Amino acid sequence: MEAILSRHSVRDFKGVEISSDTLEKLVHAGMSAPSAMHSSPWHFVVVTDRKRLDGVAEVHPYAAMSLQASAGILVCGEPDREALREFFDQNCAAAAENILIAACDLGLGAVWVGLYPNKTHIENFTKYFNLPKNIVPFTWIPIGYPKTSAKADNRFNPSKVHYNIW
Ligand SMILES: Cc1cc2nc3c(=O)[nH]c(=O)nc-3n(C[C@H](O)[C@H](O)[C@H](O)COP(=O)(O)O)c2cc1C
Repeated sequence: MEAILSRHSVRDFKGVEISSDTLEKLVHAGMSAPSAMHSSPWHFVVVTDRKRLDGVAEVHPYAAMSLQASAGILVCGEPDREALREFFDQNCAAAAENILIAACDLGLGAVWVGLYPNKTHIENFTKYFNLPKNIVPFTWIPIGYPKTSAKADNRFNPSKVHYNIW
């Protein structure tokens, strides 16, 4: 609950290196997400190379924070692995959210940069990361140690909760 309630998007990073163990924990969290019929249709491109991180800012208009990030994870989907292809994006979203919560728990900051289902973003990321034809880039997550500390607001809104019937 602590990580879920304190998670917020972080776009300013310290530039401190993230250990490979920590990055693996993030990917492990992603792979622990639920998926329709347990299809686990995801792949993760873990990026630590400075030039490759910087280049993302050029292929996505809202990814300038990649220039400061110490790492990034490209969450990708493999829709052909799905018995139910229409759930492909929901499965990837569950993996992405797990990564954001795990990052917060590990003292890191991260932000979800949306790609899917925007055709231009999909084409640009497919090209930039040399993705195979059967792989769809879903979201880009720049990650780093936060430059400043911020408190998440309390978003509980009882008017959105309906008990037993609307
Ligand atoms: C589908 C999706 C797409 C998003 N795309 C971007 C983006 O392109 N750039 C960005 O800075 N933040 C992006 N965000 C982050 C949202 O702006 C952020 O989650 C929202 O403002 C709520 O703030 P919080 O994450 O601090 O709770 C995206 C979030 C989602 C779920």
